[in-house]
Amino acid sequence: MATGAQVVFRRLCKLYSSSSTKGTTASFKMSSRYFGTLAAAAFGSGVVLTSLVASDDAVHPPKYPWDHKGVFSALDHRSIRRGYQVYKEVCSACHSMQYVAFRHLVGVSHTEEEARALAEEYEYPGDIDEEGNPTTRQGKLSDYFPNPYPNEEAARAANNGALPPDLTLIVLARHGEEDYIFSLLTGYYDPPAGVEVREGLAYNPYFPGGAIGMPQQLFDGGIEYEDGTPATVSQMAKDVTTFLRWSADPKHDERKRMGMKGVIILSLLVGITLYWKRQKWSLLKSRKILYYERP
Ligand code: HEC
Repeated sequence: MATGAQVVFRRLCKLYSSSSTKGTTASFKMSSRYFGTLAAAAFGSGVVLTSLVASDDAVHPPKYPWDHKGVFSALDHRSIRRGYQVYKEVCSACHSMQYVAFRHLVGVSHTEEEARALAEEYEYPGDIDEEGNPTTRQGKLSDYFPNPYPNEEAARAANNGALPPDLTLIVLARHGEEDYIFSLLTGYYDPPAGVEVREGLAYNPYFPGGAIGMPQQLFDGGIEYEDGTPATVSQMAKDVTTFLRWSADPKHDERKRMGMKGVIILSLLVGITLYWKRQKWSLLKSRKILYYERP
């Protein structure tokens, strides 16, 4: 069955060729013109569509040489530990990480005792007591990181209407991944001439639209690292971003190790298989068939 466009096209061709003495060339010309218009329209709409992509009004982050980007490289676990400290002391005032529990830190950045001590710093709702009143209890290893706000409305009310997103998976949820998060955290500038930023927003060229509801969070010396690393803005941004990569991709190291094992074992198997195949075929491949004329 012919589609609507094909029918229109055929009728146009007929019209054109009947009014012309050179029928075939004319219809050929017509079809090329028709397709030219179609292509131009498609191209035009493509251009319009791409120019409407929301992220295009932001500066693209540069590519940074992350320690863990190589095929053979694991995450920097000291950096994860420092990154947790940045999250705890700065970001956790506004951002939840509802899918990470204290037990997840064990063996990654903290020992079991350390993780338990961190959990015990927080209070969680406990059982109902004998008089029917709700109680609170100390945190345990199995508890998830506490949410800074009781609900979304409270979070928005405290942040001029903007909602601080949960950070567990944020590295995977944004274009540019680590590079974007790092650039965002270190990318606060005075707005350039002619750019007006609404009251309550901050200028950040990496954020789509350029005006973000999160004011600058990291300042040189803002925290004191327990391992003595100088807490510059870029150091803290790098550490917290590494921590967020781990939270979004906790199997990162294991995945690469398994991949490497797989490649090594499979390449051994390929070698053995090729040798075996050549050996089995060697009889057939090296035989010689001779034909003699009948005496
Ligand atoms: C004072 C509260 C506050 C603190 C502290 C804070 N943020 Fe935010 N953050 C926000 C708000 C509000 C938004 C939403 C901004 C918007 O949508 O305009 C946000 C958004 C973000 C985003 C998402 C940006 C996007 O592309 O949508 C990231 C990533 C982020 N914050 C990371 C961090 C990190 C890392 C820290 C700690 C170093 C931190 N934030 C500390 C309030 C905060």
